[in-house]
Amino acid sequence: MKPSDECFEAPFLNLADPDFSVRSEAVREARNKCWYARTPYGIAVLRYAEIGSLLRDARLRQGSYRWPAHNRASGLFAEWWLRMLLNRVGTDHDRLRRLVNPAFSPRLVTPLIPRFEAIAEEIIMAFKARGRCEFMSEFAAPFSTRVICEVLGLSHDQWGPLADASADMGLALGVTYEENQCRVNAATKRLFDYAQQLVAERRARPRDDFVSNLIKANEDKERLGDQELYDMIVLAISGGIETTRNQLGLGMSLFLDHPEQWKLLNAQHKLARNAVEEIMRLRPTTTWVTREPLEDITINGLVIEKGTTVHLFAESGGTDPRVFDSSVDIATEHKRHYGFGAGPHYCLGQAIARSDMTEAFRLLSRHLIEPQYDGAPAWLPDSGNTGPIKLPIKFKL
Ligand code: HEM
Repeated sequence: MKPSDECFEAPFLNLADPDFSVRSEAVREARNKCWYARTPYGIAVLRYAEIGSLLRDARLRQGSYRWPAHNRASGLFAEWWLRMLLNRVGTDHDRLRRLVNPAFSPRLVTPLIPRFEAIAEEIIMAFKARGRCEFMSEFAAPFSTRVICEVLGLSHDQWGPLADASADMGLALGVTYEENQCRVNAATKRLFDYAQQLVAERRARPRDDFVSNLIKANEDKERLGDQELYDMIVLAISGGIETTRNQLGLGMSLFLDHPEQWKLLNAQHKLARNAVEEIMRLRPTTTWVTREPLEDITINGLVIEKGTTVHLFAESGGTDPRVFDSSVDIATEHKRHYGFGAGPHYCLGQAIARSDMTEAFRLLSRHLIEPQYDGAPAWLPDSGNTGPIKLPIKFKL
């Protein structure tokens, strides 16, 4: 890799440091100096314009396919990981994405919105009278899991085991994947069992829903094979629950730090959709996505060699002063953020996530008046996929 003219000595960010934060002063300084930084694993792209163009650049593939090998891990999770949509490349990825697209369409999501609202209301009512709750376990986890139950047509009493399986499977995405392999693979097996049971039920009694639409694509097995069908359902469960849970927690914490914005949302519930966008711009749970050039490429004079890991920092792009001012403002429509990615891998579940989080924040702002921290929160590292582990809050009724 040769330095570009603009960044003769590109800054270095130590992503391997367990205390590294994507929101640190070091990242801000690096972004001022240069559009990218060197890291122990490839480069980190820090500015909005370059992040957007690299997300859409077909000369790069999604970069996390190496993750199981990097962790010397094997078994069911690793096999699924390599097969599933996110790690497919080029025309094969396009084909699979086109086939599963109808299952994620707004036509199927919009009728579910009143259900998302009812789920949020029911969960809030279970703790509201106490004037306090542990937001992650009492709201974010049940809400995000029950939404997926609703989308898949699973019974809601299964939300606990489903949330546990999805959290165990999520351990594969952390630094302790290798030592947690047995737990990760057992959870993957449980999610495949759910997927197979669901498909059998829906084949017997078809509906116009997510799973039935995938089954329709699977009628021609040359187009969507049985394994691809199960892989897709497992991806929807595992990709949908943890992200939404963390994103809700990050959103709540942003509002706790900016009470005037909560007041505004409480006064104007129609701002809930905008609030979700602002949360994802400023506190995206997916702090970076990775890419890998399929050939040597040149960006702003920098030659990025084939195979280099390229981290695209969503939060750094979303707060880039070249594009955004520094305020938190749910009343303004900002330029699009990259919290759902962009380009060929743009989040397929974004219409579901946007709708369910909008209902969640609309209902939360209506019921929880002047929320505040009720003790210290606990956090996942501020890198990779982040969010609160515990978020105790109290509020007025
Ligand atoms: C707040 C919640 C969510 C966030 C923050 C989120 C974030 C993301 C991001 C950043 C990507 C792009 C990854 C990349 O470019 O490498 C992605 C892809 C994806 N997401 Fe989401 N997601 C969320 C919810 C969901 C839900 C609810 C589902 C399904 C029900 C889902 C299914 C997917 C799928 C299937 C892909 C892969 C698309 C492809 O490779 O073509 N996501 N998501």
